[in-house]
Amino acid sequence: MNTVETTKGLAVVTGASTGIGYELAKCAAQDGYDLAIAADEAQIQDAAMKLREFGAKVEAMQVDLSTPDGVRRFAAGISALGRPIDLLMANAGRGLGKGFLDEDVHDAQRVVDTNISGTILLVHDIGNRMRARGQGRILFTGSIAGFVPGTFQAVYNGTKAFINSFSFALREELKDTAITVTCLMPGATDTEFFERADMLDTPVGQAKKDDPAFVARIGYDAMMAGEGDVVSGWKNKLISAAANVTPAEMLARQHRKMAEPGSAKN
Ligand SMILES: NC(=O)c1ccc[n+]([C@@H]2O[C@H](COP(=O)([O-])OP(=O)(O)OC[C@H]3O[C@@H](n4cnc5c(N)ncnc54)[C@H](OP(=O)(O)O)[C@@H]3O)[C@@H](O)[C@H]2O)c1
Repeated sequence: MNTVETTKGLAVVTGASTGIGYELAKCAAQDGYDLAIAADEAQIQDAAMKLREFGAKVEAMQVDLSTPDGVRRFAAGISALGRPIDLLMANAGRGLGKGFLDEDVHDAQRVVDTNISGTILLVHDIGNRMRARGQGRILFTGSIAGFVPGTFQAVYNGTKAFINSFSFALREELKDTAITVTCLMPGATDTEFFERADMLDTPVGQAKKDDPAFVARIGYDAMMAGEGDVVSGWKNKLISAAANVTPAEMLARQHRKMAEPGSAKN
């Protein structure tokens, strides 16, 4: 990474190459922030080029955030910028469809390592920098999936239950500081997520989904307003409200109807 010099604030966004993360980075760039962004594949450099069109200085790193080494390299790259971090959007994540016993266990492990382990390692590092400085805003991309036992997506939903829960707890721990913690909880969103999770033959894989720009805007605005959590879209608000009063066994049964492999009509 090259050192940049500017008077604007710095926003860190993980998983910014596509989907919700790219749109979150765009919100920050449009708002006048410079960016440090990361993703696992080379496409992150294409995203950086597009984000520069909004006037932001963008440092992009291709790092595997499912590994401690990848997180360390990203954190070191951010340090090399020599700038305080104003915003952290911990968004990188991946899904995985199919029955748990039919999944490659290493793929399942990678979902946990990316969505949970890599996320908490990075947030621990940057959260401490924010605390030392006495300010900062953190946004997690959780999910309404975290409220529902994810039959045929069991590991993924479990990771999102972790993120939702972790976010609320961290917010409470930091309530007497000037660091805000917000959890964005989207429903099904039109990104590369379902294809990557091998879920295109499921009803949820084929359903109409929310626009990632719409979802990201809701999350970004909630973070800037210092809100604790936000569910994007009224249908998802209804789903999450219903999930809170429905027995877990029934939720697991309903999730089968959305996510059973090969059960899509087309
Ligand atoms: N789409 C939905 O329906 C939905 C709903 C609720 C919540 N979410 C959450 O939203 C977040 C973003 O997902 P999305 O829907 O925008 O999907 P997406 O388009 O597949 O984006 C995922 C992003 O995370 C990055 N990523 C994945 N694994 C990584 C790793 N090991 N190291 C570094 N970067 C990694 C990807 O980069 P590479 O391509 O380079 O790996 C990509 O930039 C995830 O946390 C997801 O769980 C999605």
